[in-house]
Amino acid sequence: MENKLRQLKDRSLQEICQADTLEALESIRVKYLGKKGELTAILKQMGSLSPEERPVMGQLANQVREALTEALESSRKALAEKALEKKLEDEREDVTLPGRPFTVGHTHPLTKVISEAKEIFIGMGFTIAEGPEVELADYNFTRLNTAAGHPARDRQDTFYFDDDDQVLLRTQTSPVQVRVMETQPLPIRIISPGRVYRKDEVDATHSPMFHQIEGLVVDEGITFGDLKGTLNELVWRLYGPETKTRFRPHHFPFTEPSCEVDIQCFECHGAGCRVCKGEGWIELLGAGMVHPKVLDGCGIDTEKYSGFAFGVGAERMAMFRFGISDLRLLFENDARFLEQF
Ligand code: PHE
Repeated sequence: MENKLRQLKDRSLQEICQADTLEALESIRVKYLGKKGELTAILKQMGSLSPEERPVMGQLANQVREALTEALESSRKALAEKALEKKLEDEREDVTLPGRPFTVGHTHPLTKVISEAKEIFIGMGFTIAEGPEVELADYNFTRLNTAAGHPARDRQDTFYFDDDDQVLLRTQTSPVQVRVMETQPLPIRIISPGRVYRKDEVDATHSPMFHQIEGLVVDEGITFGDLKGTLNELVWRLYGPETKTRFRPHHFPFTEPSCEVDIQCFECHGAGCRVCKGEGWIELLGAGMVHPKVLDGCGIDTEKYSGFAFGVGAERMAMFRFGISDLRLLFENDARFLEQF
């Protein structure tokens, strides 16, 4: 038995030395120390030894087991370390590689001009008002002195929700005027940017959805001079102080007198070109002195108060501001276009 034990020790230690994976090591452990292992089998024969031999062999067997266990453990540690090193080596990062570029977005050109306009008006003492995009025909038309039957209310131009033409997608931001006059104390000095909708075919200058910035000032002694001064200030701040404006008589049902404001063409500076269709001027906005009927309808004393209002097309503002010739580009969300602004 002593021989057997010594042989087993030599053989197993050699096998452990040669094992080069953790799996191989484990099968060696099972082979010798497992329930059906070789050392276990020898230990089971202890019973057949004489009482004198038993403690001697017992001790030897224990030594062999300890030597085996120790060798297994230190080998396991060495192999595990090697495996970790290999893993680290395989997964090594090359920190000198150039980084992957990622693009940071920025505000849309339309949002940009609207923010600029807001800043300009806030600087002049205006506050921002909001109104619903789903609006009542009453606010969008009737109370803006545009009675039933008026051609502006035509179903061909307006998105109505109901057969009675009572509820619609607002065609202009002007209904906000009425909502503000109804609820806010005088004096009033607001602008209201937002979406408006009209049944227009999409082309270079039209879209069924676009943006307007409405403006309304109501106070004692407001004149057309205030209107001109305010709108000139807007144009000069947006397009530079050398920009020429033209106030041209026009008609809106809810202002009297009314005008449209043109700016000199940014492309040809008045000479006439493709952008301004030979005119030298481009229309920017509609404006006028608030019609007494509209003020009166909101319970405002027209003997004491007067006001002016205007509505600017925000897409036009952006197009002139950035020299964009096709409105559709603003809505296509092509990053190659948008990143230029
Ligand atoms: N709402 C008018 C339009 O959409 C513009 C406008 C606003 C005109 C305010 C006068 C006063 O054309």
